[in-house]
Amino acid sequence: MSDAIVAEKLTRRFGSFVAVDEVSFVVPRGSVFGLLGANGAGKSTTIRMLCGLLAPSGGRARVAGFDVASEAESIKRSIGYMSQKFSLYEDLTVRENIEFYSGLYGIPKNRVHRESDRVLALTGLGERSRELAKELPGGYRQRLALGCALLHRPQLLFLDEPTAGVDPLARRIFWDIIYDLTAAGATVLVTTHYLDEAEYCSTVSLMRDGRMVAAGTPGELKAAHHPGLLLEIECGEPDRAMKALGGIQAVEAAALFGSRLHVTLVPGARAEIVGAALAAAGLAQARVQAIRPSLEDVFIRVVSEKQGGVER
Ligand SMILES: Nc1ncnc2c1ncn2[C@@H]1O[C@H](COP(=O)(O)OP(=O)(O)OP(=O)(O)O)[C@@H](O)[C@H]1O
Ligand SMILES: [Mg+2]
Repeated sequence: MSDAIVAEKLTRRFGSFVAVDEVSFVVPRGSVFGLLGANGAGKSTTIRMLCGLLAPSGGRARVAGFDVASEAESIKRSIGYMSQKFSLYEDLTVRENIEFYSGLYGIPKNRVHRESDRVLALTGLGERSRELAKELPGGYRQRLALGCALLHRPQLLFLDEPTAGVDPLARRIFWDIIYDLTAAGATVLVTTHYLDEAEYCSTVSLMRDGRMVAAGTPGELKAAHHPGLLLEIECGEPDRAMKALGGIQAVEAAALFGSRLHVTLVPGARAEIVGAALAAAGLAQARVQAIRPSLEDVFIRVVSEKQGGVER
């Protein structure tokens, strides 16, 4: 079976500014591909090119078997797209919004009711079908927007920050729907700023300044970007601890995580050296323990990496 998305050196310039810079990746059918990156990294621009909404300035991509540059119309018919700033009709009910989008997607009139019922059931919005969109809580709005993108039964979905600003329980419900869709064979490309969500993805890729700087399963990313020991340090003065560790060769990087400090050691270095350095700086009471890196550690490390080293 062919891959759902194949991008090769996909590039987009706006004037002299390069928003997406030779990005290459493959998304196998049935998988969830997570696109991560700081604001302005180029995620939405990448998605808009893949959806056939924005012409690439260079490189190429095939989506659902179609070429993004020459077969954009076929792509639009084959995919579902939930844009970062999707619009619902506030003065229409949930069902009316769905029926309106059915028209946009060209669903034949005799199938609109059936498809609307299917989407209402899938997104768990059946009981709210008569409520006005403007009265829906955030999590339900996102599910309605997703439902509208599913009316024409696309097998490939592009979701651009679908859970932004939504509470944790509502995010969980949203992800359960995504899993139901992929269990039924759909492929999903999703962007998010929530790193707990990235852990649910089959593959995660990280963008920085228009470039894809890391990609792999969450496990692979952690192994590749955290070859050395990761230590968590708890003490009353994390800033002082940071300074105390700054000059030590065995410390590759240090970052503040709230009131704690996460310290990456160079491969082979042992935790004791950190304890000794903290004691020498008068921070003997600090608690040092080895922890498993999270994707947040990887993200901070990769996104703050400068050419030639890691920011301290
Ligand atoms: N139409 C445009 N004209 C000029 N610059 C643009 C245009 N669209 C996007 N950009 C720029 O391209 C860069 C990437 O934008 P993009 O929206 O793809 O980032 P993003 O990763 O989706 O960010 P966010 O997390 O904030 O949504 C930004 O610097 C943005 O200002
Ligand atoms: Mg965006």
